[in-house]
Order: sequence, then structure tokens, then C-alpha cells
Amino acid sequence: MIVDLRSDTVTRPTSAMLEAMASAEVGDDVYGEDPTVNALEAEVAALLGQEAAIFTPTGSMANQIALQLLVPRGDELLADAKSHVVNFEMGAAAALGGVSSRTFSTPGSRLDVAAIEPMINRPNPYVTTTRAVAVENTHNMGGGTVQPLAELKRLRGLADAEGIALHLDGARLWNAHAATGVPLSEYGRLFDTVSVCLSKGLGAPVGSLIATSAERAERGRILRKRLGGGMRQVGYLAAAGRYALANHIERLAEDHARARRLAEALEPCGVCGAAQVETNIVLLRVPQIAKVAEAAAERGVRVSVLGPDWGRLLTHLDVDDAGIDHAIEVLTDLVGE
Ligand SMILES: Cc1ncc(COP(=O)(O)O)c(C=O)c1O
Repeated sequence: MIVDLRSDTVTRPTSAMLEAMASAEVGDDVYGEDPTVNALEAEVAALLGQEAAIFTPTGSMANQIALQLLVPRGDELLADAKSHVVNFEMGAAAALGGVSSRTFSTPGSRLDVAAIEPMINRPNPYVTTTRAVAVENTHNMGGGTVQPLAELKRLRGLADAEGIALHLDGARLWNAHAATGVPLSEYGRLFDTVSVCLSKGLGAPVGSLIATSAERAERGRILRKRLGGGMRQVGYLAAAGRYALANHIERLAEDHARARRLAEALEPCGVCGAAQVETNIVLLRVPQIAKVAEAAAERGVRVSVLGPDWGRLLTHLDVDDAGIDHAIEVLTDLVGE
């Protein structure tokens, strides 16, 4: 048995999803003529309480289009020190968008507006002007933490008062919604741009979207084409996304319960805290984790190594209860030693 807990991106499409893909109606999306893409974009815009959405191949491209829309070249983005946009997008904000980034820390990976407020630079001739703040929800490297709605509202108030924009990296916003019951549109409406991924917890093979105003979406389509993201008969992939939205959001609660069960079983070994598991990610603190990961892989359990003494386990569509039982058996054996 192989139980791949490295990421929730490792899922393969279900046969029902493949059927939906095979029967999709398609057209040339660069001409705006793919009916399945158009339907997906309209659905996601409505879900997120925004006017329009654009389908992109990846979450990174969606994030980068958003940053280019919100931050003029040479101006500044404030983002979490552990965020995806700063650490895992190959410096694209600077390299492609000319965006200067400054980071803030989030204790427990939870947003703290009081710490962001004094960092905002208003336009003046001596400092780089702050134009936007990026928020990640759920927070990947923070262990799938959900950003509290009250703090997000506070941040919106601050942004309005300061005349700056807000971007939400919502690659796993679905998980935040499943964990809290907060409607996706309530999260989405608080931001100027929102990126979401269909290829993480939702199990589609590829695809992300950026949702925003109609005016920004129009400019965003130009930026997408510039980045090489204008796709043709891509309705086959959009169909996977539509299927995922209709069938795989509510079931995320199962992934969360399995992550919690995994953490509760491993907690007595002193490698994680079950109380910190809010969604589908379990962070592990294990000395020399690479060795443990190697031994676990030999017994069919794949673990993500993030540093010399920490790693990550993610539950997803392709891990069932038997898989969790097997992972618990193997990992407690290895880290309990
Ligand atoms: C929080 C977050 N944002 C953005 C992305 C980027 O997605 P992609 O791999 O599709 O570029 C990821 C990918 O893991 C992510 O975890």
C-alpha cells in the first residue's frame, strides 16, 4: 500500500471526473469561446463574491497576475514571511512584476493586523510605497491554519483607511470554508483579488483562478497572455474543476477528520500537536526527519521533508481510512523509537 502524504496536489482524477472532462464542450479560450471555461469562471466569481474570474494553469500564475494588478512596478507588497508568494514562486513578484516585497511575522501563522499597520509606507519621496497586503488562507507552511474572519475584517478596514489593496492567496480557501462554515463569498468579498486552486484539496489535475472586479479581470487577461497563460481548448481542464467544485468541497471535512486522527495518534510521540490541526495539514517536528522519511517510504508512507527537523503530512482525496491506519502504524513505529 502506498500512502502519499507529501501534498494534497498528488491526487489523480476520479473516473467520474475523467468522464466529465471527456464530455466537455470546448472552444478556443483565447478568443473567449470555450463555454466550459466561461461557465467555470462565472461559477467561481459568484462563489467568491467577485464580479469576474480568470482561469489560469497554476496558483502561482494566479497570484502573480494579482500582484501585478495591485502593485505598480517599484512599489511594495507586504506579505507573511512564510507565505507562498514570497518563498515558493521563484522570486516572480520581483523578477516579473517589479514588485518589492517586505515581510511580517504571524505568530502561530495567524494574521495580526496590529503588527501590519505600522509597516505601511504612505507615498513620500524617501520610502518604497506600500500598495498591497497578501494573506494566505489557509496558511500552508503554518500547518493549514485558518485566518480568523474578525481579523480579516479588521485588515479590510485598515486597507480602506490607508487606500491600499488586499490579495488573498486562497489556494486552500476551500479548506478554510469547510473548517469554519464561513461562506466562500464572505471571505472573498473582503479582498480585491482572490486566487484559488482546483488542483489541491479539490482533486482536479490542474487549474487555478483569480477572482476580482470586471475591470481588473480585463487587464488580468492581458497579463495572463503575457505570462504565456493564454490556453486554447482548455475546457477539458475546466470541466475537471467544475466537477471538483460540485462534488469535492463538502467532502474536505473527511480530510480534516483524518488529519486530526493522524495527529492525535502521533502526538504521544512528541512530534506534533493535535490541537494545532485545523484543516488537512499536520506539521511534524522530528530530529533528522529525512532518515525517518526514507524509512517510512520503504514501508509505503511518503512524508514531505521541509527542513532538517521538520516536515509535513497532508490528507487528501486519495487517502482513505485504511491509508491513515497504515500511516499511523508506520510513523508511530519510526518516531516512537
Ligand atoms: C498557499 C499556496 N499558494 C499558491 C500555490 C501555488 O500553486 P501552483 O503549484 O499551482 O503554482 C501553492 C502550491 O502549493 C500553495 O500552497
